[in-house]
Amino acid sequence: MNSIKEDIENLRDEIRQHNYRYYVLNDPLIADYEYDRLMAKLEAMEKAHPELITPDSPTQRVGGEPVKGFPTVAHEIPMLSLANTYSQEELEEFEKRLRHLMPEEDFEYVVELKFDGIAVGLLYKDGVLVRGATRGDGERGDDITSNLKTVRAIPLRLVQKEGLPVNVEVRGEVFMSRSGFKKLNRIRENAGEKVFANPRNATAGSLKQQDPRETARRPLNFSAYYLRVTEPDSEQLALTTHLESLHRLRELGFPVSRHTRLCKSMWEVLDACMEWETKREEIDFEIDGLVIKVNDLSQQSALGYTQKSPRWAIAYKFKARQATTVLKAIHLQVGRTGTVTPVAVLEPVFLAGSTISRATLHNEEEIHRKDIREGDTVLIEKGGDVIPKVVSVIDEKRPSGTRPFRMPKICPVCGGPLVRSEEEAAVRCDNVSCPAQVQRRIEHFASRQAMDIEGLGGAMVKLLLENQLIEDFGDIYRLKKEDLIDLERMGEKSAGNLIRAIADSKQRPLDRLIFALGIRHVGSGAAVLLADRFESLFRLQKAESQELDAIDGIGPTMSRSIVQFFRQPQNQTVLEKLEKAGIRMEEKRKKRSGIFDKKTFVLTGALTRFTREGAAELIESEGGKISTTVSRNTDYVLAGEKPGSKYRKALDLNVEIMDEDTFIGLLEKSRKRPFPRSSQLGMEL
Ligand code: IVH
Repeated sequence: MNSIKEDIENLRDEIRQHNYRYYVLNDPLIADYEYDRLMAKLEAMEKAHPELITPDSPTQRVGGEPVKGFPTVAHEIPMLSLANTYSQEELEEFEKRLRHLMPEEDFEYVVELKFDGIAVGLLYKDGVLVRGATRGDGERGDDITSNLKTVRAIPLRLVQKEGLPVNVEVRGEVFMSRSGFKKLNRIRENAGEKVFANPRNATAGSLKQQDPRETARRPLNFSAYYLRVTEPDSEQLALTTHLESLHRLRELGFPVSRHTRLCKSMWEVLDACMEWETKREEIDFEIDGLVIKVNDLSQQSALGYTQKSPRWAIAYKFKARQATTVLKAIHLQVGRTGTVTPVAVLEPVFLAGSTISRATLHNEEEIHRKDIREGDTVLIEKGGDVIPKVVSVIDEKRPSGTRPFRMPKICPVCGGPLVRSEEEAAVRCDNVSCPAQVQRRIEHFASRQAMDIEGLGGAMVKLLLENQLIEDFGDIYRLKKEDLIDLERMGEKSAGNLIRAIADSKQRPLDRLIFALGIRHVGSGAAVLLADRFESLFRLQKAESQELDAIDGIGPTMSRSIVQFFRQPQNQTVLEKLEKAGIRMEEKRKKRSGIFDKKTFVLTGALTRFTREGAAELIESEGGKISTTVSRNTDYVLAGEKPGSKYRKALDLNVEIMDEDTFIGLLEKSRKRPFPRSSQLGMEL
């Protein structure tokens, strides 16, 4: 029978193995919860036998009491920094210098990622982590051993086997993944705490915690890039190349980057630099450049050091992507769909290859959350996407007399009122003749599912607007053949065709006209309901929201949006134009018995061409009803992709299952017109 001591040690080894698979090989064998169970078991055993606890036990990551300040410690060998380069030319000069210093030699280089984190040095004695320190001024750093022990990627104990040293110094970078950083900030935001500006700040802040229990909660990671064997007799363990030391580091249990590359010439180095300039966005952590190191360790020692940095290595830095500048004003930008976005007007700064003078602020909430004010000095960042964003305000630099941002009440482009939609953070301009949106609105008006004006597509609308022949869709009906003939690429015949298509559209059914207006949230299904109920655009215009709410299939969001739309004076003007042009505004509607008359539907799974609300609206417009549970009274289950338990229930109860294509086929047959490829229901106009 094993002694308790052996059992405990075996369990520790098992856990260390899993750590190794997870952090070093990136290939875990067990799920997180199984790992947690092993840890819990070890904790329980150690609790029963506290005399058997060793400092390198996996349970001892969070030990010790909170400290006041960290003692400083001297590095056995200084932790130097690297000389920086920013261009191909500077890298070529680096190589020239090497050749000058060692004219007889050829060089191979190892290119590594330059992690944007915090450099630390770790000392292991007899295989156990005894000290971990920050770089500090290079000579002396802070002893943050108890915090570093909480970083699970850092082994508390070296893997020990024949041919591997037990006394070493390992250097590397503690960093935080982008995803971990985002999650951490989300938690802090919810707790009302200040968020970190970037993963590097978050890492630095986490390592500075006085209480290691707090550090343990932060998603810190580690990557090793330097090994020094400190054994007294280390001859047989001697390393000859840097690449070899990286392999050895991995064998000892340290995570080592897999993006490291051996380059046989400076050409290959330059290629790698170019490649990573864009590839950097694809990895889940931030790097601020590459580090180029001479591979041969005897060459390294022959080259030696300058005062500040090794002669055998150099950093190639990417162009900075963050900068600080003054935010001069907050302007509003009106998008093609009417969404109003606040934009920061900046004191121009040069950043990563271009001059930045504007940055997005997303929405009002975001501005208040970050308390961004005109006059502030702000940190801006160019991320993976091209539009720069404002990361945070530099509080210390706020001038006196600034005021919190207030969202204006009118559209800066057309002067129309701005409306706040309650279901999103955005503010919108709903004026159909707002110049910022008019192109898109006219395109929608003329589209196949709306007024169906053949020949009036995007390019044509653009041309008409540019030539000031129209200002909104109310003007389409005033166009004359003579206006069109002079336009680019317009002949007598095509002008005639377009005028005819426009005239033909005057008699479209009322529901199409209602849909064509582009009232937010009103799709083609809802338009049918409204046309059937009011049989007149004038009556619809006067409808109050209670009256609209009472219609089966029209919800409060839609009714609010309808009332808002008709209340707008600019929209009323456009409607008058339509009326004058002789568009059919009233229509006696036949009481259609819908194809789904009195049928009960249950929806399940993800539909690809409709939102659920959209599909429900259509079913109701065809006389059907929606229910949430499948029973014997259900007529159809409309099943999308990955249907759930309702699908199974339908099979059990022998309820007819309808797929999306069949559903669309039936609707198209009933309405004698094709369906748009993507849902027009609840579509974003
Ligand atoms: S080598 C003498 N390799 O860059 C060798 N440093 O400016 C010096 N860093 O303080 C370090 N990734 O924080 C090296 N793959 C890497 C690195 C790296 C990030 C940081 C480290 C160091 C700074 C040097």
